[in-house]
Amino acid sequence: MSVHTEDRKKITVLQLKKMKQQGEKITVLTAYDYTTAKIIDEAGIDVILVGDSASNTMVGNPTTLGITLDQMIYYTKSVVNGTKRSLVIADMPFGTVSGNPLKSLDAAIRMMQETGADAIKIEGGAEIKEDVKKIIDAGIPVMAHLGLMPQSINKYGTYAIRGKEEAEAKKLIEDCLLMEELGAFGILLEKIPAKLASQISKQISIPTIGIGAGVETDGQVLVIQDVMGMNKDFSPKFLRRYADLHTIMTEATKHYISDVKTKNFPSEKESY
Ligand code: KIV
Repeated sequence: MSVHTEDRKKITVLQLKKMKQQGEKITVLTAYDYTTAKIIDEAGIDVILVGDSASNTMVGNPTTLGITLDQMIYYTKSVVNGTKRSLVIADMPFGTVSGNPLKSLDAAIRMMQETGADAIKIEGGAEIKEDVKKIIDAGIPVMAHLGLMPQSINKYGTYAIRGKEEAEAKKLIEDCLLMEELGAFGILLEKIPAKLASQISKQISIPTIGIGAGVETDGQVLVIQDVMGMNKDFSPKFLRRYADLHTIMTEATKHYISDVKTKNFPSEKESY
C-alpha cells in the first residue's frame, strides 16, 4: 500500500522499505522545534530528521561538532511533541557513537527514552561497526550517514564532494553493504556523485536518502531553513529554495516596527 498525504497513520521504518520496493520516493526535511514539526507533519512529510545541523541553524555554530547529546535530546523532544504522522529520526551528535559500543548504546537509549523518537541516525561506516550492531541488537532502528560526514570536518578539512576517487567510492560501497548487513533501516548519502548514489541505491535493499546525491536515491532530504529560504548566505548547487522566508520575515518585522513606533498597533479592536 502506498502512503499518501491524507493517510494520517504513523509512518514506520518498515513502510520506508516498502516505499522503496514500490518506487515511491521518500520525503525528508529537518526540523528542530515543535511549531515547525507540526506544520511539516501536517503537510505530509514522510520523515522529520532532527539533524545535528541544529548546531548551525539553531545555535549559530560554524560546525556540527558543538552540539551535545543533552541539546539534541531537547530539540528532538520538541519535534516529537509536534509530530503525529511523520517518522522522527534523531541525529546522534559528535562523539556519542565513536568506538565504545556500551557507551554508544547508553547514548542511543537516552535519545530514544527521553525523546520518544522513532529512530536514530549515526555518521560513520566500518569504524563504528560494533557500536551500530550493539544499538540495533537493542531494538533501536538505525539510519547510517555516509559520503560527506560533517562531524569529520576536522579530519578532511573540507565539505567538498566525496566518493569521486575510485578508492573512496569502493570504501563507500563497502560501508553501505556493511550497514545493510548489520540491519540499518536506511542510509543517508551526502554529497556524492549521482551515478555512484544510483549504483548504491540499486545494490542495496534498504532505502537511500540523498542530499546532493542526484535524483536516483530512494528519497531526498534538505535542511528546513535552506528550503524555506531563511538563509541567504548558503547556496550550494544541490539546494532548491521553495520559499523566500528571509524576505517575508524581514518585511513583516519592518512593518511591525513601523506600526508600534507610529502607534498603529495595537488598535482599539486589539485592546481590552
Ligand atoms: O544534520 C543534518 O541536518 C543532516 C543533513 C545532511 C540533512 O544530516
